[in-house]
Amino acid sequence: MLAIFAGVLLLAPGVAAQQSTSPSANLALTPPMGWNSWNKFACNVSEDMIKGMADAVVKSGMKDAGYQYVNIDDCWQVNRDAGGNIVADPQRFPHGMKAVGDYIHSLGLKFGVYSDAGSQTRGKRPGGLGHEYQDAIQYAAWGVDYLKYDWCNTTTQDAKASYANIRAALDSAGRPIVLSICEWGTAKPWLWGKEVGGNLWRTTGDIEDRWGGQKKWPDGTCCSEGLLSILDQQIGLASYAGPGHWNDPDMLEVGNGGMTDAEYRTHFSLWALLAAPLIAGNDLRDMRPEIHDILTNKEVIAVDQDALGREGERVWKNGDAEVWAKQLKDGSRAVILLNRSAAEQTISANWEDLGYPSTIGASVRDLWLHKDLGKFTGRFSVPVASHGVVMVTVKPQ
Ligand code: GAL
Repeated sequence: MLAIFAGVLLLAPGVAAQQSTSPSANLALTPPMGWNSWNKFACNVSEDMIKGMADAVVKSGMKDAGYQYVNIDDCWQVNRDAGGNIVADPQRFPHGMKAVGDYIHSLGLKFGVYSDAGSQTRGKRPGGLGHEYQDAIQYAAWGVDYLKYDWCNTTTQDAKASYANIRAALDSAGRPIVLSICEWGTAKPWLWGKEVGGNLWRTTGDIEDRWGGQKKWPDGTCCSEGLLSILDQQIGLASYAGPGHWNDPDMLEVGNGGMTDAEYRTHFSLWALLAAPLIAGNDLRDMRPEIHDILTNKEVIAVDQDALGREGERVWKNGDAEVWAKQLKDGSRAVILLNRSAAEQTISANWEDLGYPSTIGASVRDLWLHKDLGKFTGRFSVPVASHGVVMVTVKPQ
């Protein structure tokens, strides 16, 4: 008896250790939400700006709406010291990175940084290649909660092996850290991102703050992506997303000035339906009320954060009219009627395209008007403004 009893006691910790293989095992069970410096500030990052932005996440109500991570993108780092340790820009971050992380944590938020799997970042700062384990220990000591890992200057490196390596390094440092794979979709990270412990992976090149398609970069290489171009590249990827591992159609441009408010509502609605990470990229210290209301629309955010963790898909298309749908935990569907054209048009969502028999009645709620629209049978039809969406939930009664 005693021996069995002792055996159980001895076994129990071993079993537990086997089950929790990674300290990051339960991260990002819903798509990460936060803010990142790149889309608005590019290399112009500093301690003061980041602290101000963290304050604004709280004051604007974004923290209450679910935004958590405050992420510094490229250009915080300048070189490595004689011991190979990564060095933050002493002018821009005079109190060092731990002080920034401590401040962000003091507000109840989480701290993210950026590095690169290759020898240099896009901004020609030191990358992580060969320093993965050393950097992971440093990040853990700074209190980093989220690492975006880019794919510049990787020459002949294998993407899957490189991201597996940084995940192993982060785990060995013992701190749970979200791993954001920023490989631009080149090596189809949706096929291996989950296996290597990535929590999200970019599916395309970089977003630019515009409605349309791809544009060559100034150096002639291909391409920056407009909203529609990114959207079209999400087709067929939905089955790869789920709790802990998400397709990332890149960060939000909402509020950066290149699109109309209607287009920004479309951008935010579609990202929520795609169960995309919602990483704002505008100046939160200075937002128009319209932009604030888009970013903090709790009914739309609830679609993104739905615990079932399904990514939505396009279920119907006719020319410039599309219907997108996402299954929700309670059996209802979030539905977007999208008008890509230059003129208003009426669009219908047919129940059969949503996975419901056409004979049933369902209640429809508008997530932008915050209004119940009534009970409909078979289909819901509505005029949709140019470049706009109507976003609803459809719930069988
Ligand atoms: C790109 C990346 C962007 C941004 C930029 C920083 O490679 O896709 O999201 O991080 O580098 O230099």
